[in-house]
Amino acid sequence: MGDPTPLVYARLFAELPETEALFVRDTLGAVRGEMLAVAFQCLLDLDGSYGANFIAAERVNHDAFGVAPEAFARFFPIVRDVCRESLGADWTAEFERAWAERLERVAGLVHA
Ligand code: HEM
Repeated sequence: MGDPTPLVYARLFAELPETEALFVRDTLGAVRGEMLAVAFQCLLDLDGSYGANFIAAERVNHDAFGVAPEAFARFFPIVRDVCRESLGADWTAEFERAWAERLERVAGLVHA
């Protein structure tokens, strides 16, 4: 499906326009790329302690620089929606279930 980064951030800025200005210093896109990569790592490592601890820590860090926990939590469903749309007919019921299960756990971590 290629690099989903531009699609993820286009969707984020469409849904939460106030977040775009926060990336003004990210002129090369390195922060945006790193953030998405780390979000995928967290989703893949929710069973170990890495993912859960990382999400809990970043939720607090982000709140401090102006991203409220509700906005922070939106990032993961936005990533799922971009993956689903990009895969089109290749998106399966198994993918849908796996994402739903992980998104539910992430929501529990963010709103804890
Ligand atoms: C709508 C949700 C989010 C917004 C608006 C947002 C915004 C930002 C911004 C503006 C920065 C740069 C901070 C700076 O000036 O140094 C940043 C960095 C970062 N964010 Fe997010 N973030 C969101 C969600 C997340 C999520 C869900 C994760 C992963 C769990 C995450 C992980 C990171 C990491 C690891 C960095 C540091 C990247 C680096 O500097 O190399 N963010 N975020």
